[in-house]
Amino acid sequence: MAAAALTISCKQTSITPQNALTVNDERINEIISTMTLEEKVEMLHSKTIMSSAGIERLGIQDIRYADGPFGIREELGDGFRPLGWNTDSATYFPTGSALAATWSEEIAYLYGTGMGREARFRGKDIILGPAINIQRIPTGGRSYEYLSEDPFLSARLTVGYTKGAQDAGTAVCLKHFAVNNQELNRSWVNAVVDERTLREIYLKPFQAGVEEGGAMAVMTAYNKVNGEYCSENAHLNNEILRGEWGFKGLTVSDWGGTHSTMGAALGGLDVQMTGDNYLGPALIDSVRNGAVDERVVDDKVREILRVRFAVEAVPDDVANRKLTSQPEQQRIAYEVAKKSIVLLKNEDNILPLKGKRIAVIGPCIDLKTAQGGVGAGVKTPYEITVIRGLADGEHSIVCSTDDPAVAEGADVVVFVGGTNREVESEGRDRQDIFLPEGQESLLEAVHGINPNIVAVILSGGPCDLRNVNRLSKAVVQGWWNGMEGGHAMADVLYGRISPSGKLPFTFPVKLEDSPAYALGNYPQLAPEGVDFFAMMFRHDRKESRGEAAVWTPEAHYTEGQYVGYRWYDTREVPVLYAFGHGLSYVGFEYSDLKATLCKETIELNFNISNTGGMAADEVAQVYVHRKDSSVEWPVKELKGFKRVTIDAGSTAKVRVSIPLSDLRYWDVESNDWVLEPGEIELLVGSASDDIRLSAVLAIN
Ligand code: BGC
Repeated sequence: MAAAALTISCKQTSITPQNALTVNDERINEIISTMTLEEKVEMLHSKTIMSSAGIERLGIQDIRYADGPFGIREELGDGFRPLGWNTDSATYFPTGSALAATWSEEIAYLYGTGMGREARFRGKDIILGPAINIQRIPTGGRSYEYLSEDPFLSARLTVGYTKGAQDAGTAVCLKHFAVNNQELNRSWVNAVVDERTLREIYLKPFQAGVEEGGAMAVMTAYNKVNGEYCSENAHLNNEILRGEWGFKGLTVSDWGGTHSTMGAALGGLDVQMTGDNYLGPALIDSVRNGAVDERVVDDKVREILRVRFAVEAVPDDVANRKLTSQPEQQRIAYEVAKKSIVLLKNEDNILPLKGKRIAVIGPCIDLKTAQGGVGAGVKTPYEITVIRGLADGEHSIVCSTDDPAVAEGADVVVFVGGTNREVESEGRDRQDIFLPEGQESLLEAVHGINPNIVAVILSGGPCDLRNVNRLSKAVVQGWWNGMEGGHAMADVLYGRISPSGKLPFTFPVKLEDSPAYALGNYPQLAPEGVDFFAMMFRHDRKESRGEAAVWTPEAHYTEGQYVGYRWYDTREVPVLYAFGHGLSYVGFEYSDLKATLCKETIELNFNISNTGGMAADEVAQVYVHRKDSSVEWPVKELKGFKRVTIDAGSTAKVRVSIPLSDLRYWDVESNDWVLEPGEIELLVGSASDDIRLSAVLAIN
């Protein structure tokens, strides 16, 4: 008898990061079955300003939250009042746009581990960050917290940060979900955005953070999206986040951003922060009178407990035993800062400053940026400002914040300007992007005395640099670069390292060129007769329904996908400095591009040679241009990048992979992602406006 052929099918069971959160579900369900409704609802709102309740009877600890995103915030009492502890000074890491300028998922991972470790020292379970909204407008008050104008770059950094922090034992809370791209009227503005733009631009970083990064928590934004407050937006929270992306963790409202009991209960919110006026006694009543099924409450408790069990609670006698900021994290802050600084221009190779007599002038020479504005401050044990960094080990520096005369006799003048935490702040957008008053006239005066100017700009978002550019031989974007920022700046200016940051957003020639401004979509002005003070007053009293009756500002996103460089490129609007731009002290030659399609992935291989005299990092960027597509696309979109370190005179082999799934578009007819067959052009270069190599590939 012939033996029957035996077929063994090997099915790969891959546990997604989200499914990993469900491993304790059986135990959790048992716990829920023993709880009273009151006990359950007690977990669905704040206990203190930065905690929500566990279950004391069962020894299940409270959940403790900490801002985020670029340092663990000091201990707060009611009303955000600092408690003045001795141990809570934390590492001040470079802010979001600085991290993004590193263009490195690996660096974002390292950054996340640093944040996660310090959260643990403080006994915190959830970091309120990373903040990953798209920088839609150059004036955005929180551009410094956010990462980029580009969803792909934001997504990769989000995944790095999330994995790093969670590997260190703390949960992250991706914020602010979603379409929170302006501070103006942030508590009641309605962002009106079409579904394709929503999916491809604004949700992309969140999707990657959830699906790939395994983020355990998500903070709903203050604003409305397409008519519904984010804290009760069932389309965002239930259909997309949980339904499509398989999110298994907890959602928490932004502080003060919950608006109704039924909306929050049914619209996908687990934890009201802060207060209990919606997800508290009123919810108990709603369950008792049959308006809300108790299983809705059980689902919320289950999601909270999943996070509680995934993150080990730090016992009180272990937390806060040592200073939060430790050298290991300070070193990370330094590493990130060194790779984030962007050299925008360098005429006559005026930089580096090796052996030159320098004068340092400007209002930001000793600027500190760890704290200020409204939120996201870090009480840090020290902060190296630019002047401190430059003076370290050098003794022949003259400096002044405002006296141009010190420029006399110097070989080079370093002008340090930019914004500060009052100019760029949570809670309000900038009115323009000019440097604060007086800086340009000071620069003019310096120029009259000594034209050998290197301008260093410290800001979180882009500034109008037309005059700075005209008056300076070199321009350096230095960000708000954390507690080691001044040391990193000195390393770059003195030439100990080559600059290697790349712009995560475009510097337009002028504000009016940017898409939301050009189309009149921003700012949204109140109609005559609306009493703003009454609205603010009502808002403070949380009578948010009342304020809607007065006026609901609408932010129309009619620019669609044409955000940032997608707009300037496609509309051929000249810019001052393009997305991805950043010079080096060495030259890089790109060669030998090979692009192949291997199953579901495009593999690009090419070489980069360092033609200079020192080791340097380069960030190679890959953009995709679609040929003859049936749907509208921007001229090109970032789909891959790689940071490489190359020794002087050496050549690096670089490989970038692009999964075909990243080339899909959101099809509004089928309500799904679609990959269109056809030809694409792969553009490899050093910046979005500096493409060095290209290849055409057919996708079937
Ligand atoms: C901010 C959040 C922050 C929260 C708690 C809110 O005003 O929008 O980003 O996490 O406050 O401080």
